Amino acid sequence: MVLFPRASVSRCTMAAAPLALPLLLVLAAITTGCGAATVAYNDRAVVIDGQRRIILSGSIHYPRSTPEMWPDLIRKAKEGGLNTIETYVFWNGHEPRRRQYNFEGNYDIVRFFKEIQHAGMYAILRIGPYICGEWNYGGLPAWLRNIPGMQFRLHNDPFEREMETFTTLIVDKMKDAKMFAGQGGPIILAQIENEYGNIMGELNNNQSASQYIHWCADMANKQKIGVPWIMCQQNHHVPHNVINTCNGFYCHDWFPNRTGIPKIWTENWTGWFKAWDKPDFHRSAEDIAFAVARFFQKRGSVQNYYMYHGGTNFGRTSGGPYITTSYDYDAPLDEYGNIRQPKYGHLKDLHNLLRSMEKILVHGEHNDTAYAKNVTVTKYTYGGSSVCFISNQLNDTDVNVTLGATHLVPAWSVSILPDCKTVAYNTAKIKTQTSVMVKKANTVEEEPGALRWSWMPENLRPFMTDDRGSFRKTQLLDQIAAATDQSDYLWYRTSLEHKGEGAYKLYVNTTGHEIYAFVNGKLVGQNHSANGAFVFQLETPVKLQSGKNYISLLSGTVGLKNYGPLFELMPAGIAGGPVKLVGTNGTDIDLTNSSWSYKSGLAGEQRQIHLDKAGHKWRGHNSSGIPVNRPFTWYKTSFAAPAGDEAVVVDLLGLNKGAAWVNGHSLGRYWPAYTAAEMGGCHVCDYRGEFKAEGGGVRCLTGCGEPSQRFYHVPRAFLRAGEPNTLVLFEEAGGDPTRAAFRTVAVGAVCAAAAEVGDDVTLSCGGHGRVVAGVDVASFGVTRGSCGGYEGGCESKAALKAFTAACVGRESCTVKHTGAFAGAGCESGALTVQVTCS
Ligand code: GAL
Repeated sequence: MVLFPRASVSRCTMAAAPLALPLLLVLAAITTGCGAATVAYNDRAVVIDGQRRIILSGSIHYPRSTPEMWPDLIRKAKEGGLNTIETYVFWNGHEPRRRQYNFEGNYDIVRFFKEIQHAGMYAILRIGPYICGEWNYGGLPAWLRNIPGMQFRLHNDPFEREMETFTTLIVDKMKDAKMFAGQGGPIILAQIENEYGNIMGELNNNQSASQYIHWCADMANKQKIGVPWIMCQQNHHVPHNVINTCNGFYCHDWFPNRTGIPKIWTENWTGWFKAWDKPDFHRSAEDIAFAVARFFQKRGSVQNYYMYHGGTNFGRTSGGPYITTSYDYDAPLDEYGNIRQPKYGHLKDLHNLLRSMEKILVHGEHNDTAYAKNVTVTKYTYGGSSVCFISNQLNDTDVNVTLGATHLVPAWSVSILPDCKTVAYNTAKIKTQTSVMVKKANTVEEEPGALRWSWMPENLRPFMTDDRGSFRKTQLLDQIAAATDQSDYLWYRTSLEHKGEGAYKLYVNTTGHEIYAFVNGKLVGQNHSANGAFVFQLETPVKLQSGKNYISLLSGTVGLKNYGPLFELMPAGIAGGPVKLVGTNGTDIDLTNSSWSYKSGLAGEQRQIHLDKAGHKWRGHNSSGIPVNRPFTWYKTSFAAPAGDEAVVVDLLGLNKGAAWVNGHSLGRYWPAYTAAEMGGCHVCDYRGEFKAEGGGVRCLTGCGEPSQRFYHVPRAFLRAGEPNTLVLFEEAGGDPTRAAFRTVAVGAVCAAAAEVGDDVTLSCGGHGRVVAGVDVASFGVTRGSCGGYEGGCESKAALKAFTAACVGRESCTVKHTGAFAGAGCESGALTVQVTCS
């Protein structure tokens, strides 16, 4: 067993930690004061205070929600059967400008960890500080680019110095707040780097890459945090002083690189992220449960859901490029923090069962028997007790397995028998209700058209004619290098003299993500990258006037790349061009090496129009009086906060692309005009077989052909009850705000099924004062539709009566499926019940 010296700043009373001894030593646990815990490990588990523990963890990224939401999210995670919360640390959020730090509001990381501690849970601190995470630039600050000699994520002083400075800052903050386990805090594991093993072979510098990853491990260990350091997806060149771990949809067949360390699954992807051009991914509860059960069947003991709550990419934090503002991820808690059923409940049942078998799983002798091809029986035995798993990894064949009795194990499922006789859980049999969430209007004021708008044009003039740029260059620069990502927007402007009038075509080659072209102050063309191709060309006819002509090009980014070998060097903007005018009479004018003037950001950003300060001159005040489909326009409205405590969203259908703020708080970028692609996997769904997010085999997609995101989360903490609230939009491409409306998110329909007589059927409208309004379906053998629209089957009048009596008017109800519900030819199939909540 490996025991770690405790964090060096602990002020608790404790026996001297064996700092000088080599790590690979078997040591007894040390008793400490003030709730401090020792964290060690062996080949079976993480060992906390001498006890081998099963760690069931969930990722909740603190900046993707608000501090006001954190306690509720953490409580729901705990009630969902987790004992640990995991998060990355968001370097470019904490240090947006070099040595200017932000630890306020949703970046108050210490407060987040204190909430975890308060809930009595453990924590995993994934510092990175490269974090990927569909986060802008993978979490790395773009200002790193300005440091001479900087090479990202390789062995070089400039990078390593900055990485160490930030890592130490975070560690010290955590130590000061006594957040490490040895200090009595919740943190039991910490991570350095992220999935470096996936890309290190492609960096064309093996030696530097290997030196760097060893430097990372040494630097981390020097921090003396008293808990083990992990490194995910680092299967080769694994430093001796870290634990390598697995990320993926499945990790049962993966084992760590050496003996003596536990099998840790740092990212079990509960769904997938969404991009503006993609539909919504869904990973079924059955498949996630299958993957988790397989992992514990095969000696896993530490498992983290990525994501347990995905949340929202507020501000300019989404990465990609092209990740949507919603980071819902199809996680067990939805973007707004609501419980997603049946995923949440089905996994909760599994967690509770696994934790009840903890001792046997982490101590037991184990024995795997191949029952048939792809069918395995695993028996763990400890202290005279046994638990069994039966896994059926066949995609489409159910099998009968005899173990005590004969058990039918459906295709692609695992049965768990805590006494090796009776099946307590099968991953394919869902006992939890399905909840369908709706976005509802609560009052007349929330109907489209009810909001009164005023507007203001973005002042484009400064960059159409005069010379007020920040600097000049006879080169077309990469946008990230030129402006270090302080805004989405970068102006490039040049001028040329022309004899007489002339008709041309303007060609702009750009590396994306979008471009607007103006000639002599007039918008002449716009384009954005599509289908994942970020290199594209704008082609548009233009007229030149006699004399001086101005060509102003506005380049916009939509989240910087966050993943891949040398991702940081992937250019954005009109890097290198060329930019050309091709004359209708055959004359070409190459502007690539003209004198270009640069300016980052828009005038309205500099004036902070989103803060709605006094002195801003808004025009108009009614729906008819505002311009629509006008590019580069600011809009403002005031609204009452919807009553109650359900999550609030704003429906921005009708708008095109831009950014939104409520009471000065950013809701993120919006782009409802972007339609999600129709692709393979849009209209097929089967939980059986390996889940994939890319390539062939993708399935269960929804929202195909629809706006990829029309609803934007307005956290309750952004709103003021009983006072007017302000919504400000910056519409960049031209849209119609008059259709915008506020909604609340609530449980609409709830469904549950009972396979056998004796089963309980529980239905809940999810709190917030919602009750069952009516029972729509109580039928056997329902064949068509999904929850909210079930059809077919054979209605049981007795069941309908029983559910109506027990449920209508109530927030939740439980009814036992009795033999009395059958009759009238209604014997076959499961009993399915669907109710409406209001
Ligand atoms: C992993 C990465 C995470 C996240 C995930 C996909 O490769 O470590 O940060 O990007 O993929 O959601």
